[in-house]
Amino acid sequence: MMPKFVITGGAGYIGSHMAIRLVQDGHIVKVIDKTPKSSATLLSTLNNNNFSYLEADICNSDLDSHILGFDTVIHFAANTDAKIGFENPDIDFQQGIFQTFKVLQAMKKSSVKKIIFSSSGTVYGDTIIPTSENVSSPSPISMYGASKLASENLINAFCHMYDMKSWIFRIANVIGKDSRKGVIFDLIKKLQKDSQLLDVLGNGDQSKDYVYIDDCIDAILHAYEKSDEKINLYNIGSDSSISVKEIVQIILQEMNLSPKINYLGGPDGWKGGGWEGDITRVHLDTSKIKKTGWAQKMFSKEIIKRAVKDIL
Ligand SMILES: NC(=O)c1ccc[n+]([C@@H]2O[C@H](COP(=O)([O-])OP(=O)(O)OC[C@H]3O[C@@H](n4cnc5c(N)ncnc54)[C@H](O)[C@@H]3O)[C@@H](O)[C@H]2O)c1
Repeated sequence: MMPKFVITGGAGYIGSHMAIRLVQDGHIVKVIDKTPKSSATLLSTLNNNNFSYLEADICNSDLDSHILGFDTVIHFAANTDAKIGFENPDIDFQQGIFQTFKVLQAMKKSSVKKIIFSSSGTVYGDTIIPTSENVSSPSPISMYGASKLASENLINAFCHMYDMKSWIFRIANVIGKDSRKGVIFDLIKKLQKDSQLLDVLGNGDQSKDYVYIDDCIDAILHAYEKSDEKINLYNIGSDSSISVKEIVQIILQEMNLSPKINYLGGPDGWKGGGWEGDITRVHLDTSKIKKTGWAQKMFSKEIIKRAVKDIL
């Protein structure tokens, strides 16, 4: 029997791509998201007998009856704007920790035994790179990262106490076709408004690990199929990173522009012009997931080039 999946937050970027892929592969898929289906850009026209869509706010709903009979919950719903947590830490508590608890409670009540969870590389905070899953004590420096780590811990406890299994993925920055947020999108929008001056947060030396959307979906499904421990924990990244300065150069080349560039941060990267809680250097060690047979097809630089072309 093909497993049946519920995807919370399935109207979002990664969730929509996951839903489309699973339906294409012949699975029964239900998306639960607070976004109305008509506004779920990639899913609004997906008509397939195996696919259903429930509009619901998970924080205010009891999901038990809606997930009954499914094998696996793919829990993607979360606040995904990490910057907001500084002004409003309540958001990451409600839409991160509390929301994960609600999902786990519903799984317990309806005897759904498997959960796939989208955690994040932000759980590690500023630490040695490349960062492996074996870091003895991950120390997040943002509310977003803290809510992901707390959610992981709740999942661990539910798995041990109620005979569940989990696949937890600490994911780098996901971009690709249809990306409509993040540094590249923001910089392109700024340049389209003013092609003479470009304000860039930080000092430009901050560097991040990017993973292409298709590689990310493949990695999740591959590890889900190939590993069967009680807790299966993996980093997902592209084993490469790229600095903001390099990203700016790629964008300017593609747009054929040469504005004055104003880096707003001081020597400490984001500080002095950016947002609290951001990590200046991210590069995830992916050797563990590679041992299962998965490998990324694209690296950070080509991912950025492709995303810039797509957005333009
Ligand atoms: N995109 C990335 O670079 C990245 C990196 C690491 C981890 N992640 C994690 O992967 C998951 C998916 O990310 P994404 O980029 O697709 O985000 P997204 O913002 O595009 O999608 C999140 C979805 O969750 C839904 N949602 C949030 N709160 C909800 C609630 N209370 N009830 C119902 N629906 C709710 C939103 O409506 C949205 O459709 C998130 O958990 C995110 O933290 C993303």
